[in-house]
Amino acid sequence: MNQFENQWALITGSSSGIGWGIAQSLAEQRINLILQGLESLEQMQDKIQVLKNTTGVNIQYHSVDFSDTKAWHAFVSQLPTHHILINNAGLQFVASVAEFPLEKWNLLLQLHLTVPFMLIQNFLKQTLHSPARIINISSVHGLVASVNKSAYVTAKHGLIGLTKTVALETAGTGITCNAICPGWVKTPLVENQIRDRAKKENMSFEQATVKLLEEKQPSKTFTDVSDIAGLVQFLCSPAGKNITGSSMTLDGGWTAQ
Ligand SMILES: NC(=O)c1ccc[n+]([C@@H]2O[C@H](COP(=O)([O-])OP(=O)(O)OC[C@H]3O[C@@H](n4cnc5c(N)ncnc54)[C@H](O)[C@@H]3O)[C@@H](O)[C@H]2O)c1
Repeated sequence: MNQFENQWALITGSSSGIGWGIAQSLAEQRINLILQGLESLEQMQDKIQVLKNTTGVNIQYHSVDFSDTKAWHAFVSQLPTHHILINNAGLQFVASVAEFPLEKWNLLLQLHLTVPFMLIQNFLKQTLHSPARIINISSVHGLVASVNKSAYVTAKHGLIGLTKTVALETAGTGITCNAICPGWVKTPLVENQIRDRAKKENMSFEQATVKLLEEKQPSKTFTDVSDIAGLVQFLCSPAGKNITGSSMTLDGGWTAQ
């Protein structure tokens, strides 16, 4: 029995990668899910049905593009009361500061920072029975920078600032707010970067993978989606009640350098 059994968790960006892994793990703990992604309901239907059948939880899926302000306002206005909020939706765009298109800058800040802000605001306005958990999926790029990722790095640093502020404003209420900062995790987001690099530097996908890991992540292995899901489970357990305002790395030593 876990303390959130039969309650609802909202996980943004849960149609694939880290978000989907967290969704599976919360469903296994009998927590009902509000999922969101860019994919259509038709594209998601089969895997959602399998998760429903194997865990018995209720699952809502919302196909929403957060760059469409009207669509995501509509999404927020009809959310059921939830006691876990995981801000996870994200994407990468790579260009030097000098070349960075303003529209991509705005999109990345909206997706990684403004949307979490609005969802946290909505969460805190709900009539909440504590305990409750807010978990923001930031990144090592919330703590250190890399070239050509200005919007991502800026937004992920900002998300850590937002996490700390929310933690202070909710301290002592039973609501906690923390950030998780993964290093490289093999998901579609990173596979796209590896593919682009392999093409640009004329090497195989495997060679580009090794290079990517060697450059930044001392363990030279990917963080698994299940590692992140495990940390989310821990933060949602009673043992997480006094962990708030923290930024937890799962980065194979990346930020220890
Ligand atoms: N993969 C990594 O190495 C890594 C490392 C650190 C942090 N992260 C962060 O983890 C989170 C999840 O990334 P992932 O690696 O699982 O990627 P992913 O590409 O598998 O998933 C991204 C999710 O975000 C959704 N999304 C993308 N653009 C959107 C938009 N405009 N509107 C609404 N939803 C949108 C997608 O539909 C998908 O569900 C992101 O915030 C990312 O920055 C990933």
